[in-house]
Amino acid sequence: MESVLFKGAYVPGQGNVDVGVRGGRIDLVGRGEAGNYDRVIAADNCALLPGFVNAHGHAAMTLLRSAADDLPLQQWLEEKIWPLEARLNSRRVYWGTMLAIAEMIRSGTTTFTDMYFFEDAVAQAAEETGIRAVLSRGLVAVGPGFDQAMAETREFVRTWQGRGDGRITTLVGPHAPYTCPQPYLEEILDLARELGRPLQIHLAETRSEVEESRRQYGKSPVAVLEEAGMFALPVLAAHCVHLSPEDIDILARYDVRVAHNPTSNLKLGSGIAPVPALLAKGVTVGLGTDGAASNNNLDMMEEIRLAALIHKGAHHDPTLISAQQALAMATAMGARAVFLEEEIGAIREGFKADLILLDLDKPHLTPRHNVEAHIVYAAQASDICLVMVDGKILLEDGHLTTIDEERVLYEAARAARELLEQ
Ligand code: NI
Repeated sequence: MESVLFKGAYVPGQGNVDVGVRGGRIDLVGRGEAGNYDRVIAADNCALLPGFVNAHGHAAMTLLRSAADDLPLQQWLEEKIWPLEARLNSRRVYWGTMLAIAEMIRSGTTTFTDMYFFEDAVAQAAEETGIRAVLSRGLVAVGPGFDQAMAETREFVRTWQGRGDGRITTLVGPHAPYTCPQPYLEEILDLARELGRPLQIHLAETRSEVEESRRQYGKSPVAVLEEAGMFALPVLAAHCVHLSPEDIDILARYDVRVAHNPTSNLKLGSGIAPVPALLAKGVTVGLGTDGAASNNNLDMMEEIRLAALIHKGAHHDPTLISAQQALAMATAMGARAVFLEEEIGAIREGFKADLILLDLDKPHLTPRHNVEAHIVYAAQASDICLVMVDGKILLEDGHLTTIDEERVLYEAARAARELLEQ
């Protein structure tokens, strides 16, 4: 793998510096000697950022993009999404995931999180394309196939944990408290302990989920999971839209990581997560796109901007969620949300070289009073001119280096047609 020196790039929080990459890791932040590297990239008109971490999603749902819109969550799931998902198979999930990865690399995502079915096909796509991935087979206990899904989870973790030179890591993925009630949840927690892997779950996404939990158990979904002992293990919880102050205290006390999905929550009419309150209590909050069926794209730059905007509007307070905080949620905090904070999420010597280069030489990014604010409030995914994961360039000059994009578009469109046809 060639060594690369990014010369003179603007790095948020560090100013204009040189960043060297060797053997898949950042080996220099400061002043670099061009002669010490195989390749030098002049970057003085660019910003160099840690790649974005998409902390929640279902990649292959790209196949369902715009197949069902403008419906409430339960109706959307039960009448539209689940019947189509019943027709998925490994090949279709593979091509849907390849489509998602192409889109994610183009918009600066270097790590994505996934919870779905046929997860081996997701892992295969991640391994082939060079992206970093945090993957789990979704577990739904209400309904048939739970034992098989548990066996598949065990096999999946044993097969894929650490594959792709460590780019692939695994989680145990109970879908939600309402689809994984006791005693199934206990079995799932035992499995997570046995495998030594963290968990991810959808939590407190809608008001009706919380109301139903209070009716059935007399407590919130967060309190139900606490009582079940789930938070004694490391947990990534997606959404967390409807939280009481007590719920927020519980999440903070157990260091539960939260994935904030502002677009999906707005589109499904679920609400706006209390992110300022979570951050004030020290909770780690990452950002996610959720699946493309409830977004309807996988562009993290849109999530960053929305995360910086909606809390200001909702609370009539323009000081909430600064540009720096929004960017951190997509990078350093995102890395911590998916349990990779010691490897990625910052431009630091020794960290994995997961980097994106943004071309600042654009009308909408001129003048340059504040580059961090530009990235959050003004930049577009099309400004990203280079994407690197593990020291390997995956996008440059508009071309994906590891993906046959024409074929992916063709095969994904075909797989999507098949879902509707059968
Ligand atoms: Ni989701």
